Amino acid sequence: MGKGMRVLLGVSGGIAAYKIPYLVRGLVKAHHEVRVVLTRHAREFVTPLTLETLSGFPVLTSLFEIHGSSMPHIEEPFRADLMVIAPATANIIGKIANGIADDLLSTMVLALDAPLLVVPAMNTRMYRHPAVQANLEILRKRGVHLLEPGTGELACGEEGPGRMAEVEEILRVLENLGLLKGPLRGKKLLVTAGPTVEPVDPVRVLTNRSSGKMGYAVAAEALRQGAEVMLISGPTCLPPPEGVDFVAVETAWEMQEAAEKHFPRYDVLIMTAAVGDYRVETPAKEKMKKGEASLTLHLVENPDILKSLAGRKRPDQFLVGFAAETGSLREKACRKFTAKGVDLLVANDVTEEGAGFGSDMNRVLILDRTGKVEETGLLPKSEIARRILGRIVDEAFPP
Ligand code: C5P
Repeated sequence: MGKGMRVLLGVSGGIAAYKIPYLVRGLVKAHHEVRVVLTRHAREFVTPLTLETLSGFPVLTSLFEIHGSSMPHIEEPFRADLMVIAPATANIIGKIANGIADDLLSTMVLALDAPLLVVPAMNTRMYRHPAVQANLEILRKRGVHLLEPGTGELACGEEGPGRMAEVEEILRVLENLGLLKGPLRGKKLLVTAGPTVEPVDPVRVLTNRSSGKMGYAVAAEALRQGAEVMLISGPTCLPPPEGVDFVAVETAWEMQEAAEKHFPRYDVLIMTAAVGDYRVETPAKEKMKKGEASLTLHLVENPDILKSLAGRKRPDQFLVGFAAETGSLREKACRKFTAKGVDLLVANDVTEEGAGFGSDMNRVLILDRTGKVEETGLLPKSEIARRILGRIVDEAFPP
């Protein structure tokens, strides 16, 4: 099961802010991770301490406060799966409709690349004002989800539309819009990771420098997005992400056997593993003794797991390959795309400093069937995993 969404919750300065702790509690109870951003005026209505206690994370209030990140205005919206602004005052609605970014919350909206739900709350006359209505229309046209305010008695004593939707309704709307469901819910992903290890004799092995970090990040992110995940892994130092079906293997043959056995039950195969291309034909039964000045090992080619599964996949199955290269990345990646018969290929240059094997960071090219090549910047492997899964969702499971 997925572990829930990352919800960025912006609170602006309206009396309805007093209801927001209940919204935070509802989301946290449903296993979502909530990061709260308060405007300066919102702090007059609800305290950061309350929201911090309920969400379990520091509440962000200013562009210049540092909470483990020097750029929360970019990083928080970047890692959010969705954003909610509740209550949204006439002021914040006006600012985000017009691209004004003069505080943390409005700045975050400009950096957001995820769905946004705006829950307006204000005095009836303000709500009906043509300026506010025009701003709401701009947001609507931009694809922002709006939860119309309720009609009734307002805190100011007037009657009419303007009262913030109840917390239960906000939660219901988020659910109905599918915003709290992982995009991979109901999908089955098979991920391979790590190196393979081929015996030379009972003591020595042939292996490679793969740490498994990229594949484990893909498996963890897929779980978070609601997928059922099996991870077939060569030996690594990493704990399997909680919730995966884990299969430990050593050699390329073992990996092939496991992949072939399970692949028919899965929608997507992501071959992140660095599979050894060769193995020693006949590993020595006993430890080989030194004595000769030189030694020749006779190597034979391993099966190409990806290529063989690509040749047999059903039309509804989707295959993702990886390519770790040293230089001329784009040309080599294009050639590999064709040779392997995959639907998506992720390529990286392992000679780049601070990226690739063993590192927590990576920079990749993502090639698809249309010939498009997406280039990511240098990003944490968890973010690279998110990009890859985003592409899989778009291409393998279009709406
Ligand atoms: O040919 P190359 O090893 O560069 O291809 C890399 C891609 O092919 C990766 O996705 C890797 O997991 C997969 N592969 C495989 N079987 C092999 C070698 C690589 O499935 N024997």
